Amino acid sequence: MLKLMLIVLSILMVFNVEVINANLPKFKQATKEDGSLSLLVIGDWGRHGAFNQSLVATQMGIVGEKLEVDFMISTGDNFYDNGLTGVHDPAFKHSFTDVYTAPSLQKRWYTVLGNHDYRGDVLAHLSPVLRKRDSRWFSLRSYVVKTDIVDFFFVDTTPFQDKYFIEDEGHTYDWRGVLPRKRYLSNLLQDLDESLKKSTAKWKFVIGHHPILSAGHHGNTEELVDQLLPILEENKVDLYINGHDHCLEHISSPVSKLQFLTSGGGSKAWRGDEKQWNEEELKLYYDGQGFMSMEVTRSRVDVAFYDAFGNVLHKWGRGNSNFYTY
Ligand SMILES: *[C@@H]1O[C@H](CO)[C@@H](O)[C@H](O)[C@H]1NC(C)=O
Repeated sequence: MLKLMLIVLSILMVFNVEVINANLPKFKQATKEDGSLSLLVIGDWGRHGAFNQSLVATQMGIVGEKLEVDFMISTGDNFYDNGLTGVHDPAFKHSFTDVYTAPSLQKRWYTVLGNHDYRGDVLAHLSPVLRKRDSRWFSLRSYVVKTDIVDFFFVDTTPFQDKYFIEDEGHTYDWRGVLPRKRYLSNLLQDLDESLKKSTAKWKFVIGHHPILSAGHHGNTEELVDQLLPILEENKVDLYINGHDHCLEHISSPVSKLQFLTSGGGSKAWRGDEKQWNEEELKLYYDGQGFMSMEVTRSRVDVAFYDAFGNVLHKWGRGNSNFYTY
């Protein structure tokens, strides 16, 4: 019996299978020596440099150097159109390694999966083989990155959207590791809630691919409004950061301190459809390419959005008790 258990355990370890009901995996990330952090956020990018992906990458390199960024966050849809075909897919090199070449971007890239990433070999994204191909790459489905001042909660949002499961959109999704879906989602929400409750960090940021609220093409994700948003509000999360809509956007909550930040301008943009939104809440909507930076200390968080030429489109910051819009 013991022998059997050991065999099962080693099979699990060899294949890196996530154990059901385990808490979200946690990783430690160092801050700068003065205790602060700076980082860049980009989403919806992998197109072999096309659709201004390379232009955005160049500006990220410049801003990254100025801010001496500690790491990057990708909000998903890392490889278009259909994710990766496998761990040796040349798209990984052509859309990631060969594009983000600036010295300041040679830091860790914490990523989540987008819906397009689920259309390929989803396990390839998560494989340690990719980390061998480019040591910056860090991809898991849901996990926590802990620093001395912020805890970052990365959430796999694609499995929440009903339409990928029920509508005949003409796409196939690789749901290995997700089915049965109901159990996957309830475990994830429970694990996230527990991890948020245990967090003692000054700031709590949650990152997913899909927006909760957005005035863009896709609009609000109702499944997340219903299932994820109450957990974020209950646990006093400061920021929800996402991609999916190919734009740069800042929405402030009418009822809590939670701010909704979309950084999905990594390549193809300019869809030209913006929904009506309360002007008090919609602080920025930019339909084109670009990215976002964040600077965080124990007492302040500052966010800036940049276009493909590095021009600052919008800045926002919050101190201990009040917030500032520039
Ligand atoms: C590239 O960026 C410029 C400036 O924002 C824009 O005018 C142009 O349409 C973009 N090209 C593509 C293919 O999106």
